[in-house]
Amino acid sequence: MAPLLSTLILLLSSSLALSSITPISRPSHYKPSPKTDDDYDTPLPLIIWHGLGDNYQNEGLTSIGDLATEIHPGTLTYIIRIDDDASADRTATFFGNLTLQLDKVCADLAAHPILSTAPAVDALGFSQGGQFLRGYIERCNFPPVRSLVTFGSQHNGISEFQSCAATDWLCKGARSLLRSNTWSAFVQSRLVPAQYFRDPEQLDSYLESSNFLADINNERELKNQTYKENLERLERFVMYLFEEDETVVPKETGWFAEVNGTDVTLLRERSIYREDWIGLKTLDAKGALEFKTTEGQHMKLTDKLLKAVIKENYGPLGRKLEKEMTEREEL
Ligand SMILES: *[C@@H]1O[C@H](CO)[C@@H](O)[C@H](O)[C@H]1NC(C)=O
Ligand SMILES: *[C@@H]1O[C@H](CO)[C@@H](O)[C@H](O)[C@H]1NC(C)=O
Ligand SMILES: *[C@@H]1O[C@H](CO)[C@@H](O)[C@H](O)[C@H]1NC(C)=O
Repeated sequence: MAPLLSTLILLLSSSLALSSITPISRPSHYKPSPKTDDDYDTPLPLIIWHGLGDNYQNEGLTSIGDLATEIHPGTLTYIIRIDDDASADRTATFFGNLTLQLDKVCADLAAHPILSTAPAVDALGFSQGGQFLRGYIERCNFPPVRSLVTFGSQHNGISEFQSCAATDWLCKGARSLLRSNTWSAFVQSRLVPAQYFRDPEQLDSYLESSNFLADINNERELKNQTYKENLERLERFVMYLFEEDETVVPKETGWFAEVNGTDVTLLRERSIYREDWIGLKTLDAKGALEFKTTEGQHMKLTDKLLKAVIKENYGPLGRKLEKEMTEREEL
Protein backbone atom coordinates (compact mmCIF):
# COMPACT_ATOMS: atom_id res chain seq x y z
CA MET A 1 0.00 0.00 0.00
CA ALA A 2 1.32 3.46 -0.82
CA PRO A 3 2.60 5.34 2.26
CA LEU A 4 0.06 8.12 1.76
CA LEU A 5 -2.79 5.67 1.92
CA SER A 6 -1.51 3.80 4.92
CA THR A 7 -1.17 7.07 6.78
CA LEU A 8 -4.69 7.94 5.78
CA ILE A 9 -6.20 4.71 6.92
CA LEU A 10 -4.65 5.22 10.34
CA LEU A 11 -5.86 8.77 10.45
CA LEU A 12 -9.35 7.88 9.39
CA SER A 13 -9.77 4.79 11.46
CA SER A 14 -8.85 6.66 14.60
CA SER A 15 -10.99 9.68 13.85
CA LEU A 16 -14.08 8.07 12.43
CA ALA A 17 -14.39 4.95 14.50
CA LEU A 18 -17.52 6.55 15.89
CA SER A 19 -19.22 5.96 12.57
CA SER A 20 -19.63 2.35 13.44
CA ILE A 21 -22.67 1.15 15.24
CA THR A 22 -22.28 -0.08 18.76
CA PRO A 23 -24.51 -3.03 19.56
CA ILE A 24 -27.82 -2.10 21.03
CA SER A 25 -29.57 -4.35 23.45
CA ARG A 26 -31.70 -7.06 21.93
CA PRO A 27 -35.24 -7.36 23.16
CA SER A 28 -35.05 -9.84 26.03
CA HIS A 29 -38.28 -11.49 25.03
CA TYR A 30 -40.24 -11.02 21.89
CA LYS A 31 -43.40 -9.05 22.39
CA PRO A 32 -45.61 -8.73 19.35
CA SER A 33 -46.74 -5.18 18.81
CA PRO A 34 -50.46 -4.51 19.19
CA LYS A 35 -52.55 -5.29 16.13
CA THR A 36 -52.99 -2.45 13.71
CA ASP A 37 -54.17 -2.42 10.12
CA ASP A 38 -50.51 -2.64 9.12
CA ASP A 39 -50.20 -6.18 10.35
CA TYR A 40 -52.38 -7.50 7.58
CA ASP A 41 -49.77 -6.75 4.95
CA THR A 42 -46.22 -7.88 4.59
CA PRO A 43 -43.81 -5.06 5.41
CA LEU A 44 -41.37 -3.96 2.73
CA PRO A 45 -37.83 -5.31 3.07
CA LEU A 46 -35.35 -2.97 4.75
CA ILE A 47 -31.89 -2.35 3.32
CA ILE A 48 -29.20 -0.85 5.55
CA TRP A 49 -25.90 0.70 4.43
CA HIS A 50 -23.37 1.00 7.24
CA GLY A 51 -20.75 3.68 7.84
CA LEU A 52 -16.99 4.09 7.63
CA GLY A 53 -15.05 1.55 9.66
CA ASP A 54 -18.02 -0.74 10.12
CA ASN A 55 -18.75 -4.12 8.53
CA TYR A 56 -21.99 -5.80 7.55
CA GLN A 57 -21.72 -8.53 10.18
CA ASN A 58 -21.65 -6.06 13.07
CA GLU A 59 -23.99 -7.24 15.80
CA GLY A 60 -25.38 -3.72 16.21
CA LEU A 61 -26.64 -3.81 12.64
CA THR A 62 -28.15 -7.25 13.08
CA SER A 63 -30.02 -6.07 16.15
CA ILE A 64 -31.54 -3.22 14.15
CA GLY A 65 -32.96 -5.92 11.89
CA ASP A 66 -34.41 -7.53 15.02
CA LEU A 67 -36.01 -4.24 16.02
CA ALA A 68 -37.56 -3.92 12.56
CA THR A 69 -39.02 -7.42 12.88
CA GLU A 70 -40.33 -6.62 16.33
CA ILE A 71 -42.13 -3.52 15.10
CA HIS A 72 -43.23 -4.74 11.68
CA PRO A 73 -43.34 -8.54 11.93
CA GLY A 74 -42.11 -10.24 8.80
CA THR A 75 -39.59 -7.54 7.82
CA LEU A 76 -36.67 -8.93 5.83
CA THR A 77 -33.51 -6.94 6.56
CA TYR A 78 -30.57 -6.93 4.16
CA ILE A 79 -27.32 -5.30 5.21
CA ILE A 80 -25.43 -3.99 2.20
CA ARG A 81 -21.92 -5.34 1.74
CA ILE A 82 -19.17 -4.67 -0.72
CA ASP A 83 -17.53 -7.96 0.17
CA ASP A 84 -18.82 -11.17 1.77
CA ASP A 85 -15.73 -11.25 3.92
CA ALA A 86 -16.41 -8.94 6.88
CA SER A 87 -12.88 -7.64 7.11
CA ALA A 88 -12.73 -6.86 3.39
CA ASP A 89 -16.14 -5.23 3.70
CA ARG A 90 -14.71 -2.93 6.38
CA THR A 91 -11.66 -2.13 4.25
CA ALA A 92 -13.99 -1.21 1.39
CA THR A 93 -15.48 1.55 3.54
CA PHE A 94 -12.07 3.27 3.32
CA PHE A 95 -10.75 2.17 -0.05
CA GLY A 96 -12.24 1.73 -3.46
CA ASN A 97 -13.80 3.53 -6.37
CA LEU A 98 -17.37 4.41 -5.40
CA THR A 99 -18.54 4.09 -8.99
CA LEU A 100 -17.59 0.43 -8.90
CA GLN A 101 -18.85 -0.10 -5.36
CA LEU A 102 -22.27 1.26 -6.30
CA ASP A 103 -22.35 -0.83 -9.46
CA LYS A 104 -21.79 -3.88 -7.32
CA VAL A 105 -24.52 -2.98 -4.85
CA CYS A 106 -26.94 -2.30 -7.71
CA ALA A 107 -26.14 -5.68 -9.25
CA ASP A 108 -26.46 -7.50 -5.91
CA LEU A 109 -29.85 -6.00 -5.07
CA ALA A 110 -31.20 -6.51 -8.59
CA ALA A 111 -30.17 -10.18 -8.44
CA HIS A 112 -31.42 -10.86 -4.91
CA PRO A 113 -34.26 -13.40 -5.08
CA ILE A 114 -36.50 -11.59 -2.58
CA LEU A 115 -35.46 -7.95 -2.82
CA SER A 116 -35.71 -7.90 -6.60
CA THR A 117 -39.28 -9.17 -6.52
CA ALA A 118 -40.49 -6.79 -3.80
CA PRO A 119 -42.65 -3.91 -5.07
CA ALA A 120 -40.30 -1.55 -3.20
CA VAL A 121 -37.86 -1.54 -0.28
CA ASP A 122 -37.16 0.83 2.61
CA ALA A 123 -33.67 2.14 3.29
CA LEU A 124 -31.63 3.18 6.32
CA GLY A 125 -28.24 4.83 5.86
CA PHE A 126 -25.69 5.41 8.59
CA SER A 127 -23.15 8.17 8.08
CA GLN A 128 -21.52 7.76 4.63
CA GLY A 129 -23.92 4.90 3.92
CA GLY A 130 -26.65 7.55 3.71
CA GLN A 131 -25.26 9.37 0.70
CA PHE A 132 -24.33 6.04 -0.88
CA LEU A 133 -27.95 4.88 -0.61
CA ARG A 134 -28.97 8.12 -2.27
CA GLY A 135 -26.48 7.28 -5.02
CA TYR A 136 -28.12 3.86 -5.34
CA ILE A 137 -31.54 5.44 -5.70
CA GLU A 138 -30.39 8.00 -8.24
CA ARG A 139 -28.37 5.63 -10.40
CA CYS A 140 -30.23 2.35 -10.15
CA ASN A 141 -33.28 2.21 -7.88
CA PHE A 142 -34.14 -1.36 -8.71
CA PRO A 143 -35.76 -2.43 -6.47
CA PRO A 144 -37.11 1.11 -5.88
CA VAL A 145 -36.84 2.73 -2.44
CA ARG A 146 -40.00 3.95 -0.69
CA SER A 147 -38.62 5.61 2.52
CA LEU A 148 -35.02 6.71 2.95
CA VAL A 149 -33.78 7.69 6.42
CA THR A 150 -30.19 8.89 6.90
CA PHE A 151 -28.30 9.46 10.15
CA GLY A 152 -25.38 11.90 10.25
CA SER A 153 -24.76 11.52 6.53
CA GLN A 154 -22.53 13.75 4.42
CA HIS A 155 -25.03 14.78 1.75
CA ASN A 156 -23.12 17.94 0.97
CA GLY A 157 -19.72 16.39 1.59
CA ILE A 158 -17.09 17.07 4.20
CA SER A 159 -14.63 19.93 4.26
CA GLU A 160 -12.26 18.50 6.86
CA PHE A 161 -11.09 14.99 7.38
CA GLN A 162 -10.82 15.62 11.09
CA SER A 163 -9.59 18.27 13.45
CA CYS A 164 -6.20 17.69 14.98
CA ALA A 165 -5.06 18.48 18.53
CA ALA A 166 -2.63 21.42 18.69
CA THR A 167 0.38 19.24 19.41
CA ASP A 168 -0.57 16.29 17.26
CA TRP A 169 2.07 16.77 14.57
CA LEU A 170 1.49 13.42 12.96
CA CYS A 171 -2.18 14.18 12.53
CA LYS A 172 -1.46 17.62 11.15
CA GLY A 173 1.14 16.28 8.77
CA ALA A 174 -1.17 13.58 7.49
CA ARG A 175 -3.99 16.01 7.04
CA SER A 176 -1.93 18.44 5.00
CA LEU A 177 -0.64 15.58 2.88
CA LEU A 178 -4.18 14.49 2.21
CA ARG A 179 -5.34 17.99 1.44
CA SER A 180 -2.63 18.50 -1.12
CA ASN A 181 -3.58 15.27 -2.90
CA THR A 182 -7.35 15.17 -2.56
CA TRP A 183 -8.12 15.97 -6.19
CA SER A 184 -5.65 13.64 -7.84
CA ALA A 185 -7.19 10.79 -9.83
CA PHE A 186 -5.09 8.45 -7.70
CA VAL A 187 -6.80 9.50 -4.47
CA GLN A 188 -10.24 10.01 -6.06
CA SER A 189 -10.31 6.46 -7.37
CA ARG A 190 -9.10 4.87 -4.16
CA LEU A 191 -9.92 6.80 -1.00
CA VAL A 192 -13.62 6.62 -0.25
CA PRO A 193 -14.02 9.81 1.88
CA ALA A 194 -12.11 11.84 -0.74
CA GLN A 195 -14.94 11.07 -3.13
CA TYR A 196 -17.32 13.10 -1.00
CA PHE A 197 -14.84 15.76 0.05
CA ARG A 198 -16.29 19.17 -0.80
CA ASP A 199 -14.74 22.40 0.37
CA PRO A 200 -16.63 25.50 -0.82
CA GLU A 201 -13.29 27.25 -1.08
CA GLN A 202 -12.07 24.70 -3.60
CA LEU A 203 -15.26 24.38 -5.56
CA ASP A 204 -13.62 24.38 -9.00
CA SER A 205 -11.33 21.47 -8.18
CA TYR A 206 -14.25 19.64 -6.65
CA LEU A 207 -16.46 20.11 -9.70
CA GLU A 208 -13.67 19.00 -11.95
CA SER A 209 -12.39 15.99 -10.02
CA SER A 210 -14.92 14.67 -7.52
CA ASN A 211 -15.53 11.06 -8.44
CA PHE A 212 -18.82 10.75 -6.59
CA LEU A 213 -20.52 13.64 -4.83
CA ALA A 214 -20.42 16.28 -7.57
CA ASP A 215 -22.03 13.73 -9.86
CA ILE A 216 -24.83 12.44 -7.62
CA ASN A 217 -25.60 15.98 -6.47
CA ASN A 218 -25.94 17.00 -10.16
CA GLU A 219 -23.67 19.97 -9.57
CA ARG A 220 -22.04 19.88 -12.98
CA GLU A 221 -23.31 21.69 -16.05
CA LEU A 222 -24.94 18.61 -17.51
CA LYS A 223 -27.67 17.41 -15.14
CA ASN A 224 -28.73 13.80 -15.20
CA GLN A 225 -32.52 13.81 -15.35
CA THR A 226 -32.72 10.18 -14.23
CA TYR A 227 -31.14 11.07 -10.89
CA LYS A 228 -33.88 13.60 -10.25
CA GLU A 229 -36.71 11.37 -11.44
CA ASN A 230 -35.52 8.48 -9.30
CA LEU A 231 -35.11 10.52 -6.13
CA GLU A 232 -38.53 12.10 -6.66
CA ARG A 233 -40.07 8.64 -6.41
CA LEU A 234 -39.33 8.54 -2.68
CA GLU A 235 -42.37 8.77 -0.48
CA ARG A 236 -40.22 9.98 2.36
CA PHE A 237 -36.68 11.25 2.82
CA VAL A 238 -35.77 11.91 6.45
CA MET A 239 -32.38 13.37 7.35
CA TYR A 240 -31.18 13.18 10.95
CA LEU A 241 -28.43 15.46 12.17
CA PHE A 242 -26.57 14.80 15.43
CA GLU A 243 -26.63 17.99 17.45
CA GLU A 244 -23.20 17.52 18.99
CA ASP A 245 -21.56 15.88 16.01
CA GLU A 246 -17.83 16.63 16.07
CA THR A 247 -16.78 13.82 13.76
CA VAL A 248 -18.42 15.13 10.64
CA VAL A 249 -17.23 18.58 9.52
CA PRO A 250 -19.48 20.38 8.94
CA LYS A 251 -22.28 18.53 10.71
CA GLU A 252 -24.86 20.58 8.76
CA THR A 253 -24.00 18.44 5.73
CA GLY A 254 -26.45 15.97 7.26
CA TRP A 255 -29.15 18.39 6.10
CA PHE A 256 -27.56 19.28 2.78
CA ALA A 257 -26.53 22.69 4.10
CA GLU A 258 -23.39 24.40 2.83
CA VAL A 259 -20.95 25.81 5.36
CA ASN A 260 -18.37 28.23 4.03
CA GLY A 261 -16.28 29.65 6.88
CA THR A 262 -18.92 30.91 9.26
CA ASP A 263 -21.67 31.19 6.65
CA VAL A 264 -24.29 28.47 6.79
CA THR A 265 -26.57 28.25 3.76
CA LEU A 266 -29.52 26.00 4.40
CA LEU A 267 -30.72 23.64 1.69
CA ARG A 268 -33.82 25.65 0.78
CA GLU A 269 -31.63 28.65 -0.06
CA ARG A 270 -29.27 26.72 -2.31
CA SER A 271 -29.31 26.25 -6.08
CA ILE A 272 -29.41 22.48 -5.78
CA TYR A 273 -32.84 22.95 -4.20
CA ARG A 274 -34.10 26.10 -5.91
CA GLU A 275 -33.30 24.78 -9.37
CA ASP A 276 -34.30 21.31 -8.25
CA TRP A 277 -31.23 19.54 -9.60
CA ILE A 278 -31.99 16.25 -7.86
CA GLY A 279 -35.67 16.50 -6.96
CA LEU A 280 -35.35 17.74 -3.38
CA LYS A 281 -37.67 20.67 -4.00
CA THR A 282 -40.26 18.35 -5.52
CA LEU A 283 -40.00 16.06 -2.51
CA ASP A 284 -40.37 19.02 -0.17
CA ALA A 285 -43.43 20.27 -2.04
CA LYS A 286 -45.19 16.95 -1.52
CA GLY A 287 -44.23 16.92 2.18
CA ALA A 288 -41.76 14.07 1.79
CA LEU A 289 -38.62 15.84 2.99
CA GLU A 290 -37.86 16.01 6.70
CA PHE A 291 -35.06 17.66 8.63
CA LYS A 292 -34.63 16.14 12.09
CA THR A 293 -32.13 16.47 14.88
CA THR A 294 -31.17 14.11 17.61
CA GLU A 295 -29.03 14.88 20.61
CA GLY A 296 -25.50 13.68 21.07
CA GLN A 297 -22.36 12.87 19.16
CA HIS A 298 -22.02 11.27 15.75
CA MET A 299 -23.94 7.99 15.57
CA LYS A 300 -25.17 8.12 19.13
CA LEU A 301 -28.34 6.14 18.58
CA THR A 302 -30.79 4.85 21.10
CA ASP A 303 -33.25 1.99 20.82
CA LYS A 304 -36.03 4.47 21.44
CA LEU A 305 -35.06 6.62 18.46
CA LEU A 306 -34.53 3.66 16.16
CA LYS A 307 -37.88 2.20 17.14
CA ALA A 308 -39.64 5.47 16.42
CA VAL A 309 -37.89 5.77 13.04
CA ILE A 310 -38.82 2.21 12.08
CA LYS A 311 -42.38 2.67 13.22
CA GLU A 312 -42.90 5.97 11.42
CA ASN A 313 -41.17 5.32 8.13
CA TYR A 314 -41.15 1.63 7.35
CA GLY A 315 -43.66 -1.22 7.23
CA PRO A 316 -46.12 -2.38 4.59
CA LEU A 317 -46.51 -0.69 1.23
CA GLY A 318 -49.50 1.57 1.05
CA ARG A 319 -49.53 2.38 4.75
CA LYS A 320 -50.07 6.03 5.45
CA LEU A 321 -46.82 7.71 6.38
CA GLU A 322 -48.45 10.41 8.33
CA LYS A 323 -47.56 12.20 11.48
CA GLU A 324 -50.99 11.86 13.07
CA MET A 325 -50.53 8.15 12.92
CA THR A 326 -47.49 8.18 15.21
CA GLU A 327 -49.08 10.70 17.47
CA ARG A 328 -52.16 8.55 17.78
CA GLU A 329 -50.08 5.45 18.48
CA GLU A 330 -48.16 7.24 21.18
CA LEU A 331 -51.26 8.19 23.14
C1 LIG B 1 -27.81 9.27 -16.11
O1 LIG B 1 -27.85 8.25 -15.15
C2 LIG B 1 -28.36 7.02 -15.65
C3 LIG B 1 -28.50 6.11 -14.47
O2 LIG B 1 -27.26 5.90 -13.83
C4 LIG B 1 -27.42 6.50 -16.71
O3 LIG B 1 -27.92 5.31 -17.24
C5 LIG B 1 -27.28 7.53 -17.83
O4 LIG B 1 -26.32 7.13 -18.75
C6 LIG B 1 -26.90 8.89 -17.26
N1 LIG B 1 -27.00 9.89 -18.28
C7 LIG B 1 -26.01 10.72 -18.56
C8 LIG B 1 -26.30 11.74 -19.60
O5 LIG B 1 -24.93 10.66 -18.01
C1 LIG C 1 -13.79 4.76 -11.14
O1 LIG C 1 -14.22 3.69 -11.94
C2 LIG C 1 -14.91 4.08 -13.11
C3 LIG C 1 -15.44 2.82 -13.76
O2 LIG C 1 -14.40 1.93 -14.03
C4 LIG C 1 -13.99 4.86 -14.01
O3 LIG C 1 -14.68 5.29 -15.16
C5 LIG C 1 -13.48 6.06 -13.26
O4 LIG C 1 -12.55 6.75 -14.03
C6 LIG C 1 -12.86 5.65 -11.94
N1 LIG C 1 -12.60 6.85 -11.20
C7 LIG C 1 -11.41 7.37 -11.07
C8 LIG C 1 -11.30 8.67 -10.33
O5 LIG C 1 -10.42 6.81 -11.48
C1 LIG D 1 -16.60 30.48 0.07
O1 LIG D 1 -15.95 31.61 0.61
C2 LIG D 1 -14.79 31.97 -0.11
C3 LIG D 1 -14.09 33.05 0.65
O2 LIG D 1 -14.99 34.05 1.08
C4 LIG D 1 -15.20 32.41 -1.53
O3 LIG D 1 -14.05 32.74 -2.27
C5 LIG D 1 -15.92 31.25 -2.20
O4 LIG D 1 -16.40 31.65 -3.46
C6 LIG D 1 -17.08 30.79 -1.35
N1 LIG D 1 -17.62 29.57 -1.95
C7 LIG D 1 -18.91 29.43 -2.25
C8 LIG D 1 -19.29 28.13 -2.87
O5 LIG D 1 -19.73 30.28 -2.05
